[in-house]
Amino acid sequence: MPPIAEDAASAPYCVIGCTRGTGLRIARQLVARGAAVRGVARAPGKARGLLPAGVDIRAGDVTDRGSLGRAGLGDCRAIFFAVDVTGGIAGRGFFKPSDQIRAVTYQGLVNAVEAAKAAGFSGRFVLLSGMGSELPSFAGRLLNTIKGDLQGNQRDRDAYLRGSGLDWSIGRGGILTNEPAGRADIRVTPPVHRLSLCRRVARPDFARALIVAADTPAASRRMFDVFNARGSAPAEGALVAQLERLGPPVASATAS
Ligand SMILES: NC(=O)c1ccc[n+]([C@@H]2O[C@H](COP(=O)([O-])OP(=O)(O)OC[C@H]3O[C@@H](n4cnc5c(N)ncnc54)[C@H](OP(=O)(O)O)[C@@H]3O)[C@@H](O)[C@H]2O)c1
Repeated sequence: MPPIAEDAASAPYCVIGCTRGTGLRIARQLVARGAAVRGVARAPGKARGLLPAGVDIRAGDVTDRGSLGRAGLGDCRAIFFAVDVTGGIAGRGFFKPSDQIRAVTYQGLVNAVEAAKAAGFSGRFVLLSGMGSELPSFAGRLLNTIKGDLQGNQRDRDAYLRGSGLDWSIGRGGILTNEPAGRADIRVTPPVHRLSLCRRVARPDFARALIVAADTPAASRRMFDVFNARGSAPAEGALVAQLERLGPPVASATAS
C-alpha cells in the first residue's frame, strides 16, 4: 500500500461504519498506509476488537445526530460514510421495515453531513453508494423489494450530499463481495451503469478505490462507478488516472 503523504498524516481520516464490510476494510487499509484513523461505531467495544491499536474509536449512532456531534468530525481530513442497515435476515437488513432502513441509510447520511458541517468540517465527504440507482434493472427491483426502497434511499442521499455545500465524492459500487483484494482489475468509470448481478466488486478493492478518491483532487464533486473486471490489480497511478478521466464536476443538486 502506498503511504499517505506526510503533510496529511496528522489529520485523521474518519470512517463511519467501521465494524463490518467495506468500512472495516477502509479503516484497515488506511492504517496499513500509515494514516491516522478515527472510527465511529455504535458499538465501540466491537470496533476495538476488530481494528488495529492506535485507531481512535468514538461512539456514534447515525440515527442519533447528537452522538455524531460528540464524535468529533470537524478536524478530519476526510469522512467515509460506509453505513448500511445490518441485522435481520442474513445480517443485511433484508425485509426490515422500510422506515427503519431509511432511518439508517438516508436520515443517517443527513445526520452525518449536518454533524460534520456543525463541527466545521472542511475536508472531503466520501459516500459509499450503489451503482445505477436511477436506472431500471432486475437487480434493482429485487433489492428494492427485499431491502426497503434501497435505490430511492440511495438517490435521495446522493442528492442530499451533492447539495450540502461540502466537498464530496460518491463511489457507486457494483454488487459487493467478500473476495480478497487484488484478484482482478478495478474499473472506475463515469456513473453510467445499471445495477447488475454480474457487475461486482470485492469490498477491499472498493475500499482501495475510495481511499484514492479521498485524496485525488480530480475526484472532488464527482460521482463514479466502481467494479472489478478481468485482469490484474491496478497500480495506484492507474486508479488516479481513471479518476482524472471522469470529466467535469457534477453540478450541485438541490438537497431534498
Ligand atoms: N451490499 C452491496 O452489494 C452494496 C453495493 C453497492 C454499495 N453498497 C454500499 O456500500 C456501503 C458498505 O456496504 P457493506 O455491505 O460493505 O457494509 P456492511 O457490512 O453492511 O456494514 C455496515 C456498517 O454500518 C454500521 N451501521 C449500521 N447501522 C448503524 C448505525 N445506526 N450507526 C452507525 N453505524 C451503523 C454497521 O455497524 P454494526 O457492526 O454495528 O452493525 C457496519 O459497520 C453501504 O453504504 C452500502 O449502501 C453496498
